[in-house]
Amino acid sequence: MTRIGWYGLGSMGLAMATNLQRHLAAKNGLSLVYSNRTMSRGDSLQALGATAETSFEKLVAQCGIIFTMVSNDTVLSSLISSVTRSGQPLQDKIFVDCSTVHPETVGLTVAKLREKQASFLAAPVFGGNPIAVDGKLVFAIAGPKKASEQVKPLIQDVMGRKVIDCGEDATKSSLLKIAGNIVTVNLMEAVGEAQVFAERTGLGTGPMEELIGEAFGPVAGGYSKRLTTGAYAPSLDSRPGFGVSLAIKDANHAFAIAKENKVELPGLKVAAENMVAAREYAGECLDSSSMYGVLRQKAGMEFWNEKSRKE
Ligand SMILES: NC(=O)c1ccc[n+]([C@@H]2O[C@H](COP(=O)([O-])OP(=O)(O)OC[C@H]3O[C@@H](n4cnc5c(N)ncnc54)[C@H](OP(=O)(O)O)[C@@H]3O)[C@@H](O)[C@H]2O)c1
Repeated sequence: MTRIGWYGLGSMGLAMATNLQRHLAAKNGLSLVYSNRTMSRGDSLQALGATAETSFEKLVAQCGIIFTMVSNDTVLSSLISSVTRSGQPLQDKIFVDCSTVHPETVGLTVAKLREKQASFLAAPVFGGNPIAVDGKLVFAIAGPKKASEQVKPLIQDVMGRKVIDCGEDATKSSLLKIAGNIVTVNLMEAVGEAQVFAERTGLGTGPMEELIGEAFGPVAGGYSKRLTTGAYAPSLDSRPGFGVSLAIKDANHAFAIAKENKVELPGLKVAAENMVAAREYAGECLDSSSMYGVLRQKAGMEFWNEKSRKE
């Protein structure tokens, strides 16, 4: 039986690993081995029977399939380098990264692992924390077919409702993820603009939210709720649903790829500038929907609304 490992227990990773551990327990499989920079994030996972391991290298040594879900390219690269440089055998191991990283990072990771006869699958996800909790994420997966066929049963109806297979070139799923986030960030900007319009004209955010959810679907409705519940600027002791710096990273990846391909992304540019302005005004503890705070300021209101934090 292949032992499964998991590194990264942030807003998304903890929810995903929880569903995976529940699945393994239901199948009487070997318990998930998990690790995270902040180990206490895994306490609830340990209570479900998963096994804690403080060292990523030791986790890799015990597992045949290793998932990672970390904030950015630098973190992923340093994790992979730590194991490729350690000299430990990696032959036939499958690494599956679910983070959003640049296709170039994926290409370099594939090469590093191929030298050690290990496989790499890029399996980024679409959907936020509540969808991850429900096990209903959409995954894009790409990499060697043999490896992806082995991994798909750990994803489909466990962590995700749908797996989009992008073929054997692992950079393709990462490209799809970055393209998808052009839509995500533009949609957040559009919902934010509509809600500021609704508030300033006296229409009110309630009817606007009802319409957004009804006419434009649950994703847009969810973005509206991030504004009206104040989740766009959560309290300083909490972790944002989709941190603003993560969305700025994704937008910057999209701009770099667009430039190389002579594509313009004017809508994304406006949204990204508003996210950067939000972070400058209100700090790091912000959701990606926090461009709303800046749109509020531009309309003569406070950055904060009645449900958000106030400073
Ligand atoms: N949130 C979303 O809605 C969403 C949706 C789709 C895709 N994504 C992508 O999925 C990835 C994870 O997102 P998330 O929202 O779960 O992020 P998050 O809550 O910020 O968690 C980031 C994870 O990376 C770890 N990490 C950060 N810096 C590290 C470092 N220097 N060394 C080791 N570990 C480090 C964190 O460890 P600690 O727990 O110790 O901080 C945590 O496990 C990102 O690439 C994001 O763009 C997010």
